[in-house]
Amino acid sequence: MSSGRTIVVGVTGGIAAYKAVNIVRAFVLRGDSVHVVATPAALRFIGKPTLEAISRNPVHTDLYEGVAEVRHVAIGQSADLIVVAPATANTIAKLACGLADDLLGNTILASTAPLVIAPAMHTEMWNNAATQANIATLRERGVVVVGPGTGRLTGADSGAGRMEEPDTIVTAALAALDAADRAAPARRVTPGDLDGKRIVISAGGTREPLDPVRYLGNRSSGKQGVALAEAAAARGAVVVLVAANLEVPAPEHVELRLVSSAADLERAMNVAAGDADVIIMAAAVADYRPAEVRADKIKKDDTGDTLVLTLVRNPDILAGLAAAKKPGQVVIGFAAETETDPDRLLGLGREKAARKGCDYLVLNRVGWTEGFASERNAVRVLDSRGDIVIEASGSKMSVAERILDLLR
Ligand code: C5P
Repeated sequence: MSSGRTIVVGVTGGIAAYKAVNIVRAFVLRGDSVHVVATPAALRFIGKPTLEAISRNPVHTDLYEGVAEVRHVAIGQSADLIVVAPATANTIAKLACGLADDLLGNTILASTAPLVIAPAMHTEMWNNAATQANIATLRERGVVVVGPGTGRLTGADSGAGRMEEPDTIVTAALAALDAADRAAPARRVTPGDLDGKRIVISAGGTREPLDPVRYLGNRSSGKQGVALAEAAAARGAVVVLVAANLEVPAPEHVELRLVSSAADLERAMNVAAGDADVIIMAAAVADYRPAEVRADKIKKDDTGDTLVLTLVRNPDILAGLAAAKKPGQVVIGFAAETETDPDRLLGLGREKAARKGCDYLVLNRVGWTEGFASERNAVRVLDSRGDIVIEASGSKMSVAERILDLLR
């Protein structure tokens, strides 16, 4: 079963770089999505094609590639975990100073994910006071340092400085990930501060049927909406979760209403909205549905080489709920956009907040590797005037907690 975590493996320029391949492979075999960020020096020790083949993803090195998609921060923001192996004395020094003169440095600075490093260097370099001070600084900041071990080094000498074995690094990295997951909800939960509030939350992605076997859908997993429902229930709210095709289990202690299409979701939301104090539309709702739902399966023999579908506009459920808002009711919408320019993204969010008429709009970027599948999210929340009231990034649960803080 896929565990679906997004893991960045940083590879720096040491002989032990060849062992990074086994680390990458172990994560891939677990079902994680692995992105290798190699320093230019690392690629003098190990070939990019090897890392690309094993990670099944492009390997990034250059800070100035992919600038339009803001890659220098995007990779770090999407990471659930960063593992740097091997970590050279030079990279450790740069991390301790917070330097960002290469893609790996930028990625690490832009991330809130747990960071695990596996130092590898000669004994003298490891024992050097500068390296030891840098390691102490990193440990103080919560960086997990695995090894180094003691043993045969690259030359004839042996001593401390040998990179730990890949299995040991992977085990330590997964333990760090677990610890971060466990800490995330606990860190911000304030039990009881939403006591008795009735909160209706939609989550997931709608499916618009074409025929008895096919539908038009989207990649929403429902994770962010489910995190909101779970966190709200833990804080004492009475939660109705209107769930459209969730890819994750629904939380306990919520009233679940299962829906599939936008029309189902609209009906369920309108019913539940009646006595709600808060309405949160986290679901990805199809803007269009097939004009006709065929009673029988569409046959390619009847349609030929091309098939033209006519789609009709679905109602805007959020705008409808906002227009019908009862006094005191709070309506929160979401806007998932692929725009890469942060200013233009904000502009789109402001237009949407005004158009939808909701009290708050949660703005986040989505793309092929961002948003839906990830365990993490990075959002800006706008109020009805378009002012940013919250900027939050981290696990979807920690983002949920920040959004719910608006309702206390
Ligand atoms: O217009 P856009 O789809 O970007 O707006 C996103 C927000 O509007 C989300 O909160 C989503 O749940 C909601 N929405 C809706 N009805 C639609 C389309 C989107 O309620 N037909």
